[in-house]
Amino acid sequence: MLYCLVSVCGWSQTVLHSTKKAIANILGKVPDLDLLPMTTNTIPTTAVNPYLDGNFAPVREEITADTLQVIGQLPPELSGMFVRNGPNPQWPPIGKYHWFDGDGMLHGVQISNGKASYRNRYVQTAGWKIEHEAGKAIWSGLLEPPQIDNHHGTYKNVANTALTWHGGQLLALWEGGAPHAIQVPELKTTGEHTYNGKLVSAFTAHPKVDPVTGEMMFFGYSFTPPYLQYSVVSATGELLRTVPIDLPIGVMMHDFAISENYTIFMDLPLTFRPGRMQKGEPLMMFERDRPSRFGIVPRYGDNSNIRWFESPACYVFHTLNAYEEGDEVVLVACRMNSTNVLVTEHTEIDSQGDIPYLHQWRFNLKTGSVREEKLDDVAAEFPRVNENFLGRQTRYGYAGKMANSIVPLFEGVIKYDLSSGQSQTHEFGRGRYGGEAVFAPRPDATAEDEGWLITFVYDEGSATSELIVVNAQDVTGEPVARVLIPQRVPYGFHGAWVTEEQLNWGLGIRN
Ligand SMILES: [Fe+2]
Repeated sequence: MLYCLVSVCGWSQTVLHSTKKAIANILGKVPDLDLLPMTTNTIPTTAVNPYLDGNFAPVREEITADTLQVIGQLPPELSGMFVRNGPNPQWPPIGKYHWFDGDGMLHGVQISNGKASYRNRYVQTAGWKIEHEAGKAIWSGLLEPPQIDNHHGTYKNVANTALTWHGGQLLALWEGGAPHAIQVPELKTTGEHTYNGKLVSAFTAHPKVDPVTGEMMFFGYSFTPPYLQYSVVSATGELLRTVPIDLPIGVMMHDFAISENYTIFMDLPLTFRPGRMQKGEPLMMFERDRPSRFGIVPRYGDNSNIRWFESPACYVFHTLNAYEEGDEVVLVACRMNSTNVLVTEHTEIDSQGDIPYLHQWRFNLKTGSVREEKLDDVAAEFPRVNENFLGRQTRYGYAGKMANSIVPLFEGVIKYDLSSGQSQTHEFGRGRYGGEAVFAPRPDATAEDEGWLITFVYDEGSATSELIVVNAQDVTGEPVARVLIPQRVPYGFHGAWVTEEQLNWGLGIRN
């Protein structure tokens, strides 16, 4: 289960490289890959690194394919583009390879009038271009020492983690650096998006867009002060403000949440202590004797009016949603007792600790009390909601059902009925594994779950990929459509549904 955690997060650029040696110690069992064949689209059979093998292996070609074969029927109302990000190393790695190291590649399926087309494109970051011209890797990865003598820069923004649509454009995200603007439907990289130079922090891979106001909230974290910076972007894409939020010590913070009036930060005890390194210990460790702290701040608040709540130590990579109810702010997220993301000789391994289950926390703003509750006993991650209701109480949530595997595989998608505590699961089928399921709402929907769950699924038996479209109101039924992709789509990270209106908006801005 170790790798499931590694899979669901990205790393701060600074954090990432400061922890390289520690991680190398931990994952030193990952073998050297110098001899790994990485020059074909086929699935390597001799590779030993699980993240360069099977359907984790990169694809070599960028293709465009129109009028794909569809099994079933794409709903005529479903019009837009599903895009998913993930690591796809351009060149054989220097030294050891970690899944997070791969250059971001976008896989997009555009759907219109019951037809589908596919294209995959690298996110052409500055580092990608330098390595493309060089014809080889210039930067080593997470498991190798930092290249402080690399005259191109010590680090590479790989832009490989997630996507969000905001301010009329699609952004490819990586929590260690600036977002990259992406043209749709071409999936062409425009360049780094720094909000006219106003971006002064790293940028989480999981910003939150308020569906009512259109504002986007994001944060950046660091292991040196300021440990946390919080920003709000206007609906039109103007970075309005960035404020520091005090933390006692730097922590790895992958996600956060918003409600209608508040922003919720998670100060969880996966800490960075540079002093540990002087003792030969890792910079980053999970401190079991340290509480979890949840900070609730008004959307336009700052460090002066943030309220902190404590609960037992845990780790959360991803939140499903948050909302307000009476005096309480409710957070729903996938919680683990601890994280083995850095398993070292200094870490007491909790074999069950890193299995994520859906939980909720109720923070009472009046009394200061916290109530934590486990909502389900099936391991699940990559939670999503209908984002038209983000920050508001939703009846439904969705998450990937984790397979029992040492590498992160999802064998189905769970639909939670948060009002009844019941759930239903769409199983992908034997030997078939999918990714994060993104909810695409039906235009003019009147019900929260009126729409479709969309994800890529890979069939290990036939070594083929497809995009499945599941009716969210009938998740146990067969997919309404299976779009056969003429190229393997490697397992990856997070996706987004870009509506037809957004596609047209983006085109309008360019024209
Ligand atoms: Fe993530």
